[in-house]
Amino acid sequence: MTDTIYVLNGPNLNLLGLREPEIYGSDTLDDIAGMLEDRAHDLGVEVDVRQSNHEGHLVDWLHEAQAEGAKAVLLNAGAYTHTSIALLDAIRSIRTPVIEVHLSDPMTREEFRHVSYVGMAAVDEVKGLGAQSYVIALEKAAKL
Ligand code: DQA
Repeated sequence: MTDTIYVLNGPNLNLLGLREPEIYGSDTLDDIAGMLEDRAHDLGVEVDVRQSNHEGHLVDWLHEAQAEGAKAVLLNAGAYTHTSIALLDAIRSIRTPVIEVHLSDPMTREEFRHVSYVGMAAVDEVKGLGAQSYVIALEKAAKL
């Protein structure tokens, strides 16, 4: 196993900072990547932060995390969280532990966000803390 933690981000998260800042905050994904790199340095791990608007890329990267011996995956699958049986199956297909991450708390929002296919297979979740959700998830992943 390596010390690398994959941080996978799904659709529309490339627009963080611009997108509904009253829900998701004003930090961009690059800002969050910077925070994670700093914290990772302190924790003695590496982060590999990626984003795609395409479901299949996220599936491929989950498989890659396993093949490359990643320590863990932090996954904010965006709206695919609530729809993607393919992501559920991918998480179940790998031994690499996956932690579900959300900036907002989907359980306090519209009912269609209350189902999480990612959550059915993830080992843990951190949500509702804005950019800090990622940092806390990284701290949890470093301890796995
Ligand atoms: C999100 C919550 C999802 O419901 C939404 O579709 C997103 C962002 C979050 O980080 O709060 O795109 O995953």
